[in-house]
Amino acid sequence: MDFAKGISRRSILQAGAIAAVGASGFVPTRFAIGNTAKVKIGFLLPYSGTYAALGEAITNGFKLAIEERGAKLGGRDIQYVAVDSEANPAKGPENTNKLVTGENVDFLVGPVHSGVALGMVKIVRETGTITIIPNAGAGAATGPLCAPNIFRTSFTNWQAAYPMGKVAMERGLKNVVTMSWKYAAGEEALAGFEANFTKNGGKVVKQILVPFPSDEFQANLTEIASLKPDGVFVFFAGAGALKFVKDYAAAGLKSIPLMGPGFLTDGVLKAQGEAAEGILTTLHYADALDIPENKTFRAAYAKAFAKEADVYAVQGYDAAQLMVQGMTAVKGDATARDALIGAMEKAVIKSPRGTFTLSKAHNPIQDFYLRQVRNGQEVVLGVAEKALADPATGCKMG
Ligand code: BEZ
Repeated sequence: MDFAKGISRRSILQAGAIAAVGASGFVPTRFAIGNTAKVKIGFLLPYSGTYAALGEAITNGFKLAIEERGAKLGGRDIQYVAVDSEANPAKGPENTNKLVTGENVDFLVGPVHSGVALGMVKIVRETGTITIIPNAGAGAATGPLCAPNIFRTSFTNWQAAYPMGKVAMERGLKNVVTMSWKYAAGEEALAGFEANFTKNGGKVVKQILVPFPSDEFQANLTEIASLKPDGVFVFFAGAGALKFVKDYAAAGLKSIPLMGPGFLTDGVLKAQGEAAEGILTTLHYADALDIPENKTFRAAYAKAFAKEADVYAVQGYDAAQLMVQGMTAVKGDATARDALIGAMEKAVIKSPRGTFTLSKAHNPIQDFYLRQVRNGQEVVLGVAEKALADPATGCKMG
């Protein structure tokens, strides 16, 4: 199908090449009237490295929602440009500028990696580019660095981890080792878990941080075995999550319950196989959610891309839904900024994860599900936290 072909890896990379032309000084002619030219959407997402599958799923989900809504935004045709962020924070500012200044995009969609997000938000706060973060959970983006033009359709790292602190104690796991990559996402996730865990009487006996995106876990797993904790809480995602779960099982640690934000298994569960059995996670989505929006979405995604949707695809899908609601309200005039932002702030998103709205800081207020892998399936055990909002400490919209 043409639609699926249009978002192949090749075309993504070609789009990246277009963005590179923009960065070398060519700025495309703009129409004076804000609602006649194509709407230009820039993707700043990883299409290589440990998070490559996440970038692809977000792109797919986004384009699916747009196609389902007539392939237009407020009546206007759309042009996509994409830059491979490589999930590399050091290139975050340069790659953001390729899209914002070089390509002069109307909307920026990205990134996946919290470190890239921190560089990106500092730039778009200055340029005012309307930005939707479809994954990166860095608290600062909807905290101290929040801004009227910055929205998120995913989660904060705190949100996805906090609920498990209570669940672990309810399950009698009192002494826990935490582990992650050493960067904002991992550190914020471990802090979110620990805050709720210690509040409920738990003790973190050791925190282990390894460089991103290392997947050499052997020495750390040996240390965990010697510590004999009641449980282990980790943040890993993408190819790193796949490797960690397999290594954990191969190290003979399956008798120690493994927990984490749902990125530990989402999108990689099939490949993890038997090694993932029993893993307990919290997340704002689960493949098996029994609501009509999820069933319709999953069927459409599987048909368009011949693969299963995951949480990243949902977040991309909802980024497009948010943009559609804003652009419909202003009839495609992206220059009507106040009205556009106002409509996005008031959006009610009927998501495959369940309906959600945005907080004053522009971050989803949403349910977090407790999930467990049983017989190769992600089973929803219940809602761990209902309508959880990030505290958005330090956010002053002005
Ligand atoms: C992050 O860097 O914020 C992130 C990356 C992958 C999954 C979840 C969060």
